[in-house]
Amino acid sequence: MLNIVIFGAPGSGKGTQSELIIKEYDLAHISTGDVLRAEIKNGTELGKTAAAYIEKGQLVPDQLIIDMLAGVLDSKKEAKGVIFDGFPRTIPQAEALKVMLNERGTDITVMLSLEVEEEELINRLLERGKVSGRSDDNLETIQSRLVEYREKTAPLADYYIQEGKYVAIKGMGTIDEIFASIKEVIDARK
Ligand code: AP5
Ligand code: MG
Repeated sequence: MLNIVIFGAPGSGKGTQSELIIKEYDLAHISTGDVLRAEIKNGTELGKTAAAYIEKGQLVPDQLIIDMLAGVLDSKKEAKGVIFDGFPRTIPQAEALKVMLNERGTDITVMLSLEVEEEELINRLLERGKVSGRSDDNLETIQSRLVEYREKTAPLADYYIQEGKYVAIKGMGTIDEIFASIKEVIDARK
């Protein structure tokens, strides 16, 4: 299986590039942010709990995310591979993912880290906030998301460097240019 973690700060283009990758390589897409927003829309208990964290720009507790992921992963059993977007975001999540994949006889192929300057991240998210309706696309929440990213998520790069899976991708430039760099990396590893 071709299992890819797409990694990067809020607004770095994880969702945008995931859409292109799944089309090109026929993969399933698991975006924990999208799953949580669907739970919120459906008014589930998980959605109610998650909404409070998301609005504040904080990470949802690991155990809730890990429990949610196991079910989602089993629903993609027939796929050629999975792209994980917005997950893992902490070391415990990365460790849980490794166990879940190993139990299913597979592993992460590569982690693609989209590198984007902070000013550009904020501009992209504020621009999207004009139309997205997302409760977290406002300046105050964006700042909190960036702090959470720096403190809890960015350290994961080291975890994947140690696993030999980490590849940095320049995430500035046009969407097509960035996708071309991603394709080169995937084609060399698949
Ligand atoms: P999540 O939904 O994962 O959001 P995020 O990481 O903050 O990132 P975004 O989805 O905002 O950005 P993106 O990197 O996907 O960029 P996009 O392609 O959209 O998480 C939301 C919240 O849910 C978290 O804060 C947390 O509370 C919770 N959560 C989710 N997963 C969790 C987990 N695993 N553990 C705990 N909590 C979790 O692009 C952004 C914008 O830029 C778009 O408008 C796009 O059109 C534009 N754009 C993209 N590429 C370019 C380009 N090259 N040039 C110009 N514009 C571009
Ligand atoms: Mg996204």
